[in-house]
Amino acid sequence: MTELLSTHGLVARYGDFQALYDVDVEVDEGEVIALIGANGAGKSTFLRAVLGLLPVKPEMVRFEGRPIGGTPTDQMVKKGMAVVPEGRRLFTGMSVTDNLRVAIDQTSRHGSKGDWTLDRVHQLFPILKEKARVPVQNLSGGQQQMVAIGRALLCQPRLLLCDEISLGLAPKVIREIYAVLPEIRAQGTSIVVVEQDVGLAKSASDRLYCMLEGRVTLSGRSDDVTREQISEAYFGGGHAVV
Ligand SMILES: Nc1ncnc2c1ncn2[C@@H]1O[C@H](COP(=O)(O)OP(=O)(O)O)[C@@H](O)[C@H]1O
Ligand SMILES: [Mg+2]
Repeated sequence: MTELLSTHGLVARYGDFQALYDVDVEVDEGEVIALIGANGAGKSTFLRAVLGLLPVKPEMVRFEGRPIGGTPTDQMVKKGMAVVPEGRRLFTGMSVTDNLRVAIDQTSRHGSKGDWTLDRVHQLFPILKEKARVPVQNLSGGQQQMVAIGRALLCQPRLLLCDEISLGLAPKVIREIYAVLPEIRAQGTSIVVVEQDVGLAKSASDRLYCMLEGRVTLSGRSDDVTREQISEAYFGGGHAVV
């Protein structure tokens, strides 16, 4: 498989506090990777560090073979990364379609091209066509998450980074949202999902990484890692996954 993204001894700090220690992660083209770990493990920090939102050295993050660590985030998006951020961060007061158009306009300014169109996003999430003119704050949490995913896809990413897209949603809605990941991958986009639901993470991914206190404590093929291995990596041993 061809490597798309890799991190090499990635470290990140918030002032004096070190939040990531020597994190090595690899995402190949066409892969879905899950990043699991308890609250505060460093999952969102990992995404921030990859996206250039925290200062990191160039060689700590490679994308399509090139060292790009610390590159400004808008340049990262131009190079082919897009994020569905924690908390979604939609433009309140704007309609569903206007939220999506922000990404379309930005992407066309960048001159990036790709297969994702408003029609394709509507095929993926038909409800977004029905609700096209509705202000996003009037949508359900699941529908807002669909807008956030659609907006990221319209940046034409080669790599989609999703931060806890299932958080606070009902099981049925979570299933609906996770059901589109194979279609996104089939379009040629690799995916990293940050997920606290271990069962969901395991079933949705090819490989997974578990983090604990800023370090990777387990990595492997999702079908091969056992509950016991995950439990130990998640909590540092002596606990059970509930
Ligand atoms: N802006 C920040 N300033 C200082 N510390 C932070 C900041 N954001 C996160 N942290 C700390 O970094 C660690 C990792 O946080 P985070 O990456 O958000 O974890 P996760 O996403 O796995 O829940 C935690 O100890 C958290 O308190
Ligand atoms: Mg987080």
